[in-house]
Amino acid sequence: MYKVVLFDAYGTLLDVDAAAANLAATNRFPELAKLWPELAALWRSRQLNYTWLRSLSHRYAPFWQLTCDALDYAMEAFDLEDQDMRTALLDLYRELDAYQDARPALDAVYEAGLPAAVLSNGNQQMLNHAFAAAGLTDRLDSLLSVEDVGVFKPDPRVYQLGCDRYQVRAEEILFVSSNGWDAAAAGLFGFKTIWANRAGMPVERLPEYPDFIAPSLDFVAEHLSS
Ligand code: LAC
Repeated sequence: MYKVVLFDAYGTLLDVDAAAANLAATNRFPELAKLWPELAALWRSRQLNYTWLRSLSHRYAPFWQLTCDALDYAMEAFDLEDQDMRTALLDLYRELDAYQDARPALDAVYEAGLPAAVLSNGNQQMLNHAFAAAGLTDRLDSLLSVEDVGVFKPDPRVYQLGCDRYQVRAEEILFVSSNGWDAAAAGLFGFKTIWANRAGMPVERLPEYPDFIAPSLDFVAEHLSS
């Protein structure tokens, strides 16, 4: 069976929309009241696009820098120029809320007697800070960052980090991601995969389909106890 369970971070354990949602909820910037979902979506999509583009052009930079670049792009697209808003959004992004189902899923891994770890595009400092702020470090054996290989997902060298850290074969790893393309690439690498399809999206037309598709991380407990 499994020897370790790896979780993606952004979008899977940490709510990438929380920064914009939480800032909008303060009413500090009234223009965000209606706009925040679109701003969050464009911010996220540019951030991911920049990971792929930088990997392809061999121009790795820390995920934090890409997060700032993506926010600058998204703010300009919506004619938002307030530098205090930018600072507030980035401060909130450093300490994103964990999803409600994150802690129970990590508890389930713990109860199954397996190590749980994060495998993320996030740079090490970003991950250390975010998971401490989310109060999840007690359930995480390690936070593995692409920073160690200088390229982003879905490069296979990223997934190899999990095998190297735990000295296990790919098929002994259960990988959990809410990003369909990440689950596909991890499956192609050889991990067993759960795609937590939070948004009810169609399955990605990529070389490998996820082994399991579930609506949330609640499936992790179900699967490990079956
Ligand atoms: C991560 C990206 C996929 O955490 O959000 O690796």
